Amino acid sequence: MVNIILSGCMGHMGQMVTKAASQTDDVKIVAGVDKASGDPGGYPLYDDISKCAEKADAVIDFSAAAAVDSLLEYGRKTKTPLILCATGYSDEQLQRIEEASKDVAIFRSANMSFGISVLSQILKKNAAKLAEAGFDIEILEKHHNLKKDAPSGTALLLADAISSGLDEEYPYVYDRSKRSEKRPHNEIGISAIRGGTIPGDHDVIFAGEDEVVTFSHRAYSKAVFAKGAVQAARFMKGKGPGRYDMQAVVEASV
Ligand SMILES: NC(=O)c1ccc[n+]([C@@H]2O[C@H](COP(=O)([O-])OP(=O)(O)OC[C@H]3O[C@@H](n4cnc5c(N)ncnc54)[C@H](O)[C@@H]3O)[C@@H](O)[C@H]2O)c1
Repeated sequence: MVNIILSGCMGHMGQMVTKAASQTDDVKIVAGVDKASGDPGGYPLYDDISKCAEKADAVIDFSAAAAVDSLLEYGRKTKTPLILCATGYSDEQLQRIEEASKDVAIFRSANMSFGISVLSQILKKNAAKLAEAGFDIEILEKHHNLKKDAPSGTALLLADAISSGLDEEYPYVYDRSKRSEKRPHNEIGISAIRGGTIPGDHDVIFAGEDEVVTFSHRAYSKAVFAKGAVQAARFMKGKGPGRYDMQAVVEASV
């Protein structure tokens, strides 16, 4: 059995993970944490992870970037692997996550879907070929109107995958409204659209002369992310200090 503490359990993703875990016979949520009150569905709820008495094999977090310090403190103290799925971390928070991973196992992925992991590998392998052939790189992401951070963590994850395959640095450009100049070739444009209930669309566009290559990923339901988090929990049980990501889960599953 893989026992989980679920942080952000009252939110949309928290409830998706609750449902995904209930559909397995080897993953069990033993406690939930959320600053909102209510009935999470079959397990005790705490407003702070430090109050949580239950022991777990992993913490899954789908709350918010602001919760990271209390999660890192809990992870360090109890040596419970942390699966950080929230997005919108600042550079300082990312630095603290890196530091804490010397003491406790930390999994972080801005996108928990299998498809995005495979897409990242494809981009890393092919970006340089397309960029050297003169293709300009643009990423367009679309999400529901409740999403607070922009661009999405996934758009940045895809941009990082592209960057890791390029020989030189391409700065990320989020806003051209204050620029009045021709687009330089060596940059990655990232644009965000918010509206309706879109679970998550990402298009990576390589625009060349007279031809365009587009790699697209569509999440049709947030359930894909919950399923990925449950897979990650199985993978993280018993792991020692260090950084882990969805790539490792995908590799372990094939
Ligand atoms: N990695 C992925 O694949 C992936 C997929 C979907 C969403 N997300 C991210 O997960 C997070 C949650 O998304 P959501 O759609 O479920 O949001 P949501 O607003 O529906 O839920 C967040 C929940 O966390 C709780 N919360 C917020 N701050 C907290 C804190 N400091 N301590 C305890 N509880 C706190 C809120 O009360 C709420 O119940 C966001 O950062 C989102 O971008 C990541």
